[in-house]
Amino acid sequence: MSLDGIDPSRVPVHVGCVMDGNGRWAQQRGLPRTEGHAAGEEALLDAVEGALDVGLRWLTVYAFSTENWKRPADEVRYLMQFNEGILVRRRDELHERGVRIRFVGRRDWRVPQRLVRRMDEALELTAANRTLTLTIAFNYGGRAEIVDAVRALVAAGTPAGRIDERAIRRHLYDPTMPDPDLVVRTSGEYRISNFLLWELAYSELVFTDVLWPDFRRQHLFDAVREFQRRDRRYGGVEPQPR
Ligand code: IPE
Ligand code: IPE
Ligand code: MG
Repeated sequence: MSLDGIDPSRVPVHVGCVMDGNGRWAQQRGLPRTEGHAAGEEALLDAVEGALDVGLRWLTVYAFSTENWKRPADEVRYLMQFNEGILVRRRDELHERGVRIRFVGRRDWRVPQRLVRRMDEALELTAANRTLTLTIAFNYGGRAEIVDAVRALVAAGTPAGRIDERAIRRHLYDPTMPDPDLVVRTSGEYRISNFLLWELAYSELVFTDVLWPDFRRQHLFDAVREFQRRDRRYGGVEPQPR
């Protein structure tokens, strides 16, 4: 578990993770898909430890998308209970580690009230922590987030000429969240699947074949090393100074 080769002065501030491949991990073992989600809990906690080791300030994980409601009702029900369970099981240790837990996504009627209560409890418990912000994207869709931002602007009577990038940013689910520097997707899928569309305009993307339940902090470190080999130009010509 080595931080070797990571330049501590150029660690990304914010890393996003598309935690994908739970179902395939389970299927490879002849288990029901839900066992893959269960095994992903260890991966998530190890990734958080890795984020603390490397000194990230923000880690955002995609836990349930606005499209995941299409899945079989049993799996959706399992995921609701599972996420509620994780918050109860893990909030104290995350709190002790100085992790601030936050959420982005729509809190619509489909999200069970019990889960919403657990979310609020975790938020309140950890609100004063400053070491690492763990944002859980739940019932989250990047397009929905942009729609919600524009709706809020229109509802506030914002004149068309005042709707610019800054105005939209101020109405995203968490306006204090910096854009991710790096987004990691597991399971060998090369797509974004509606994750942080607005925010990842200039994020570096790293894809790995590892299935999420097998993900451990060394995979996060590998992604950070890969990130540090990239030149971020933001549309300009000179590499950003190293
Ligand atoms: C990611 O794993 C977890 C969620 C989307 C909730 P999947 O359940 O998508 O696993 P695969 O992609 O089917 O293997
Ligand atoms: C993205 O994974 C959503 C989460 C990880 C929560 P999916 O498995 O839902 O994405 P697709 O269907 O492969 O694009
Ligand atoms: Mg998937």
